[in-house]
Amino acid sequence: MVNLSVCIGSSCYVNGSHNVVQTFLHLIEDNGLNDLIDFKATFCMGNCKKEGVSVCLNGEIFRIDALKAREFFTEKVMPAINIS
Ligand code: FES
Repeated sequence: MVNLSVCIGSSCYVNGSHNVVQTFLHLIEDNGLNDLIDFKATFCMGNCKKEGVSVCLNGEIFRIDALKAREFFTEKVMPAINIS
């Protein structure tokens, strides 16, 4: 099981975390991954920055551009599923 979470704290929210959440939800649903990914929205991960949204994948925190959520999913989340 892959653990994936998106920060919806205030800093990440203004940087587009809502879009990241929606993108991940659609990708999980469209690819039938509900049983393979434990997906959550969380409050501040203590990684606030001026730009980007904090995403935690299996305990590792990334700061991603909200417009590149799909790429992150393809490049980081899908491979994590394949090795879990
Ligand atoms: S609000 Fe997202 S890391 Fe702080």
